[in-house]
Amino acid sequence: MTATSAAAAAYVVAALLFILSLAGLSRHETARAGNSYGIAGMAIALAATVGLATRDISTVGLTLLVVAVVVGAVIGLWRARVVEMTGMPELIALLHSFVGLAAVLVGWNGYLSVEGAEGGSPLSGAEAGIHSGEVVVGVFIGAVTFTGSIVAFLKLSARIRSNPLVLPGRNWLNLGALALFAVLTVVFVADPGLTVLAVVTVLALALGWHLVASIGGGDMPVVVSMLNSYSGWAAAASGFLLGNDLLIITGALVGSSGAYLSYIMCKAMNRSFLSVIAGGFGNEGAAASSDVDYGEHTEITAEEVAELLRDAKSVVITPGYGMAVAQAQGAVAELTRKLREHDVDVRFGIHPVAGRLPGHMNVLLAEAKVPYDVVLEMDEINDDLAGTSVVLVIGANDTVNPAATEDPASPIAGMPVLRVWEAEHVVVFKRSMNTGYAGVQNPLFFRENSRMLFGDARERVEDILKAL
Ligand code: TAP
Repeated sequence: MTATSAAAAAYVVAALLFILSLAGLSRHETARAGNSYGIAGMAIALAATVGLATRDISTVGLTLLVVAVVVGAVIGLWRARVVEMTGMPELIALLHSFVGLAAVLVGWNGYLSVEGAEGGSPLSGAEAGIHSGEVVVGVFIGAVTFTGSIVAFLKLSARIRSNPLVLPGRNWLNLGALALFAVLTVVFVADPGLTVLAVVTVLALALGWHLVASIGGGDMPVVVSMLNSYSGWAAAASGFLLGNDLLIITGALVGSSGAYLSYIMCKAMNRSFLSVIAGGFGNEGAAASSDVDYGEHTEITAEEVAELLRDAKSVVITPGYGMAVAQAQGAVAELTRKLREHDVDVRFGIHPVAGRLPGHMNVLLAEAKVPYDVVLEMDEINDDLAGTSVVLVIGANDTVNPAATEDPASPIAGMPVLRVWEAEHVVVFKRSMNTGYAGVQNPLFFRENSRMLFGDARERVEDILKAL
């Protein structure tokens, strides 16, 4: 078997492992196996690629390649070890930016080694046109992904404000940039010049920045999954340029699954994809709604909550971002166990965008060994909330905000939420009366059946456990 056909066979195996990985990751029970398939697929892919490269590159090149892989692996392992669960979204955004940057570099390298080669391009006719098309599209998608992901990283890590940037005529700016890109692509394919490619790169960097900067508040979940999708297409574009089938397949898998996830997130938020890109959800009314006087809130102590739970028939826990911040999942799992032992029916209601990452809450609860069968999706539990004795809202805010369904003027109007206020008693765990991610006040806190339990969610749950 030649090195090329061995690599091709390895690529097929890796591609199958990636598909198995995606299938595994789609369910709690099989997610661990899915992860292992992904790791195995990537190990095979890397080994085959390095093996193939040994044929064409010098010893110095090979040494550099191995050093780069080792340095990258060490940094990756270190980051994965130290990252807090709350820091995952921004880490993922940052990783997407690397994919974008790699696609830009591959595109430029493709240009410099073919169209810009000394003595002219070795390609001619349709082949030359296709290559130039691949270069310009790869650089464009990569550069949009690169700056877009950096802005998402800055917003998610609160290094810049998450409010949308509102430039005059922002949709026209985006559309204009796309139209200009189409024209420049035609120009570049007809006559591939360095200046045109440089202009496309700068244009795409600016577009990526503006696209994500102008989206904010409640739409950030969709942005995260959208950038995931872009990074896949950027990788696929690099695959075409490098003639690497596995990169094309992997890129297409990531691109299409990211696009599908964006669609699911849009549905969860009751938004159309286009209106997300046109931006601005969850920001305009923030100031206005904080002026409304909702009356007084009532506090409760951990002992009183324990009392409520002791008398409850059924309890639903709706966790949110605050549970991740407080790292309260272990204590929450313990509380669940204790209540179930006393024949209280305990279930969880998970909003699709709770936390800062798709599946954020599910991962935390799985880590704390909460049984999968009591963890339900919003749609599965919403109709049962009216018959529930006690709902514990642990560090959630936007995802349980009644204004989304009751106040058409609210910036989050129309977003489906967990209707926790329909339960007999609601206890809200948070540290203050501050707003959640979308910056919108929550009338739930002032309802007659709502009680506020202030403080760090983990400490308060532990207090309840003691009192029980
Ligand atoms: P949020 O609306 O962000 O509210 C979280 C609440 O947790 C805050 O009100 C905060 O109140 C409280 N909190 C923070 N630290 C706490 C601690 N140590 N102990 C107790 N409480 C604590 O959360 P949510 O309901 O999960 O909604 C998610 C929001 O994030 C949505 O707006 C969603 O659009 C957005 N978002 C989601 C994603 C994805 S993909 N899921 C990505 C980006 C953005 P205090 O400060 O008063 O404690």
